[in-house]
Amino acid sequence: MIAQSNNVGYQVSQQTKILIFDSGVGGLSVFREIEAKLPHINYFYIFDNAAYPYGELEHDTLISRVDKLVCHYVQKLAIDLVVIACNTASTIVLPTLRAKLSIPVVGVVPAIKPASNLANKAIGLIATPATVAREYTHELIKDFSNAKPVELLGSTRLVDMAEEKLRGQQLSQAELHQVLEPMTGKVDVAVLGCTHFPLIKEEIQNVLGTQVLLVDSGEAIARRVQELLGQEILANPDKGQRKIFSTAPPYAEGALNKALQEWGFSPVQLEILDR
Ligand code: DGL
Repeated sequence: MIAQSNNVGYQVSQQTKILIFDSGVGGLSVFREIEAKLPHINYFYIFDNAAYPYGELEHDTLISRVDKLVCHYVQKLAIDLVVIACNTASTIVLPTLRAKLSIPVVGVVPAIKPASNLANKAIGLIATPATVAREYTHELIKDFSNAKPVELLGSTRLVDMAEEKLRGQQLSQAELHQVLEPMTGKVDVAVLGCTHFPLIKEEIQNVLGTQVLLVDSGEAIARRVQELLGQEILANPDKGQRKIFSTAPPYAEGALNKALQEWGFSPVQLEILDR
């Protein structure tokens, strides 16, 4: 099948189905932005928690997992558009997926370009250890940082903290200070280059200070999805379906399902494809 990234050629309707993919709950920050524009379509959220955290996974393993899972669900659920709501995956899997699928595949990459237009001093990139090491990220910095210095901070602990917060756990301010310490006082704009981080944006802002502008890609992704699906906005639409699937039993499942219910999702359904 041929890759396609332009308009799918139909108006978005109540039958439209979007698949949102991440390693964990981070993609919900992207879902939130898309849903705000397109509440009436159907959302299927898949998280590969069996291989979480993606920020510490081998390249080849990541590419083959995302490929297998996304292709499986696209076919099974007759999906119209895929959002890889994960920077760590998007920075390496998009060419493979687009070559296989005939529907649009939208990826999320760190918002270096918009950040460089906003920064006066220096840009911070807070992402997973894999994303800060990716060649793709370094190309983005070279092409778009407008020669502004870019401070890199890769942290899996911050990803875990976002998972914990969504399950209702209290985050430790002292620990956050410790994790973000290398960035403190050095930048005036910080890119949240992992989709988990908008879920703890307030906490990050408290540590870095209100003088630091935090930027993420969520809204831009939502605009892109809307553009690809067509512009029709229904007045007072009914909400579509919201279903969520995991690849392993999630930890603190009760707390997770409670939070997901508030986001409009039915309880997590476990589907293991690995055996
Ligand atoms: N949410 C992901 C991202 O945007 C990955 C987090 C992880 O599994 O390490 O990069």
